[in-house]
Amino acid sequence: MVSRVEWKTNGQLAVGKGATVQEFMAVVGADKLAIDVAPWGEGRLKVNGHEIAHVQDAKDRRQAFRELQKIAEHYLQTKAAPFEKPGNSPKLPAVKAKLLEGKRGLVVGIANDQSIAWGCAKAFRALGAELAITYLNDKAKKFVDPLAQALEAPIVMPLDVRVAGQMEALFEKIGKVWGTLDFLVHSIAFSPKEALQGRVVDVSRDGFATTLDVSCWTFIRMAHLAEPLMRRGGTLFTLTYYGSQMVVKNYNIMGVAKAALESAVRYMAAELGPKGIRVHAISPGPLATRAASGIPEFDALLDKAKAKAPTRSLVSIDDVGVATAFLAHDAARLITGETLYIDGGYHIMD
Ligand SMILES: NC(=O)c1ccc[n+]([C@@H]2O[C@H](COP(=O)([O-])OP(=O)(O)OC[C@H]3O[C@@H](n4cnc5c(N)ncnc54)[C@H](O)[C@@H]3O)[C@@H](O)[C@H]2O)c1
Repeated sequence: MVSRVEWKTNGQLAVGKGATVQEFMAVVGADKLAIDVAPWGEGRLKVNGHEIAHVQDAKDRRQAFRELQKIAEHYLQTKAAPFEKPGNSPKLPAVKAKLLEGKRGLVVGIANDQSIAWGCAKAFRALGAELAITYLNDKAKKFVDPLAQALEAPIVMPLDVRVAGQMEALFEKIGKVWGTLDFLVHSIAFSPKEALQGRVVDVSRDGFATTLDVSCWTFIRMAHLAEPLMRRGGTLFTLTYYGSQMVVKNYNIMGVAKAALESAVRYMAAELGPKGIRVHAISPGPLATRAASGIPEFDALLDKAKAKAPTRSLVSIDDVGVATAFLAHDAARLITGETLYIDGGYHIMD
């Protein structure tokens, strides 16, 4: 199985940035993989000499290695690099038909170029939409800035939904600069480790409240703030997961939050439908992102998804982006309140 890649260290420690950089190698079929990781949490993954991933914000060498290892395994399973670009500069797909030209949208949840929100933003922009982008905090800004530049985003604002006033400031800015909004992508979730990694039965009140607050209520609040800007109609998207419907090992309290989120989608779709505002939950199969690294045994989830899905494949952030962009198009104006699975059909199997 490709997920059991055997990494070997050459035992030598190369020197870089005044400290030691450790190198790991693996050969899988015709692919030669190399990972180097530095003690300050930076690392690179090369496949046949070409760099395909660069991690800069891991907390240490071990975490950087784990993240790159997952990306390597994902690459081997899908043969898709985490982003399609030589030399690691963000690049958008070239699409001739600008089907979303004239539309303006807010994308919340880009942490890096593996984020589902980045897959969505790329697709929306490639189809001609203009985008507003947010970053969590100063630490995240340096990873989001180059992506915002690639998107030519006229609005780039900080947004930590737990900081009072930031969400209001963001929508105020959109109101001032654009005056209207056509779509919004809410691609954020959070649960404190002790809440996420324990049994639902044991979750504390604080753990429950934080998980539901960040992962569900913020979508409701964003819909509330977007409504007055969607005078000519619009589409609101949030990201969910199959663990809302079925008990998925290790998904725990996040499954409860996603169930609430999907229900909120239906209620808001009914409430906002008469104004031409549509609301959808997008439900991708598992993707090796930063948020996913908080879920134990995530590799096993990827293996299972690939083996059981009718298409026998894992999804990419681009698959998610393109399908989401379709739902924002006027051609999809009579589709609302959906939970759209982008999972190779996994959810139809028993
Ligand atoms: N990765 C998967 O397998 C998968 C599958 C289905 C659904 N999802 C959902 O997709 C969404 C995006 O996750 P991802 O997998 O792209 O991971 P990611 O880590 O790239 O994105 C998660 C985002 O949430 C943001 N966030 C967390 N706390 C926040 C706060 N207080 N304020 C503002 N932003 C905050 C992070 O900054 C980050 O940008 C989440 O809702 C996740 O549950 C993920």
